[in-house]
Amino acid sequence: MNHGDTLLQVKDLKTHILGRDGLRVTKAVDGVSFDLKRGETLGIIGESGSGKTMTALSIMRILPEAARVISGEILFNGENLLKKGDAEMRRLRGEQMSMILQDPMVSLDPLFTVGSQLAEPLKVHRRLSGAPLANRMTELMSAVSIPSPETRLKQYPHQMSGGMLQRIVGAIAISCDPQLLIADEPTTALDPTVQAQFLDLLETLRDSKHLSVIVVTHDFGVAARLCDRVMVMYAGRVVEMGPIREIFDHPRHPYTKALLASIPDATELGARRLRSIEGSPPDLAMLPPGCPFAPRCPSVLERCHREYPGEFRIASEHVASCWQVSAQ
Ligand SMILES: Nc1ncnc2c1ncn2[C@@H]1O[C@H](COP(=O)(O)OP(=O)(O)OP(=O)(O)O)[C@@H](O)[C@H]1O
Ligand SMILES: [Mg+2]
Repeated sequence: MNHGDTLLQVKDLKTHILGRDGLRVTKAVDGVSFDLKRGETLGIIGESGSGKTMTALSIMRILPEAARVISGEILFNGENLLKKGDAEMRRLRGEQMSMILQDPMVSLDPLFTVGSQLAEPLKVHRRLSGAPLANRMTELMSAVSIPSPETRLKQYPHQMSGGMLQRIVGAIAISCDPQLLIADEPTTALDPTVQAQFLDLLETLRDSKHLSVIVVTHDFGVAARLCDRVMVMYAGRVVEMGPIREIFDHPRHPYTKALLASIPDATELGARRLRSIEGSPPDLAMLPPGCPFAPRCPSVLERCHREYPGEFRIASEHVASCWQVSAQ
């Protein structure tokens, strides 16, 4: 079936985390909706704890034990992933969608060589063995620019640098030619030079394999490098979404403005990380009734404390959830 140019559609996703006492409910993702087109790169940006990783893990269906998707739809090629059985999800994760986790060491098993870990998905999902398997592995090592693959493949994760490991994780992620790649803060653990190299690599892989990509990041520099559009999250919700250039040049939500203002030189699309903005995000288990940003917002209205604002359309692809925006 052809689903046009939309690969992924997330509709009103809610993922909650239950406390051990069964009483405390953390609304980690609280009604998130967005689309991803084929070949498009979407950035998810926001402070720590805003629900970026939980959104990504919900799509992959690899949530921690205590977390549950309580409502919504995740349509991948038009099919709702939330209705799929575990076996089907394992197949999809192997063959059509993959994720690079924040910490490469979490994705890799210290007890196995990187070669055996790269071989695994190719054996299971592509049924490769012998020379075709060896060739594919060499090809992947070269795609992620790792020299002397024969030696490297025999090594264990602890014998490699962080940058090298992230490349290995990248090679595993693209090994079965997925349509969707989710990268959660793929460069956070790396030093700046290695970070830049990994971003180059991600860009090359995306363009050569025609991947659709979701990049989770704290870093507007990373978003500017890679993304067509960005989605800004605050307290489990999307507060603003739009083409990267428009978000940079004409941010409308006070939270997005604060994030951009916290970059040392906001006029440059260089690799800059977010500095903290004043106040702290709310406890997601005790959200206030209105807009969760209201207590920190410099342009708060009386109404903001009472009612959560709906989504207002600013331009065809630019939306923001803010009463100030609706008033303009
Ligand atoms: N395993 C877990 N158990 C309980 N609560 C969790 C767990 N993982 C995340 N949370 C909570 O869910 C909320 C959203 O977390 P999430 O990891 O999605 O944030 P994030 O935006 O990815 O933050 P960061 O930038 O720090 O990675 C937070 O309040 C967090 O405390
Ligand atoms: Mg995270």
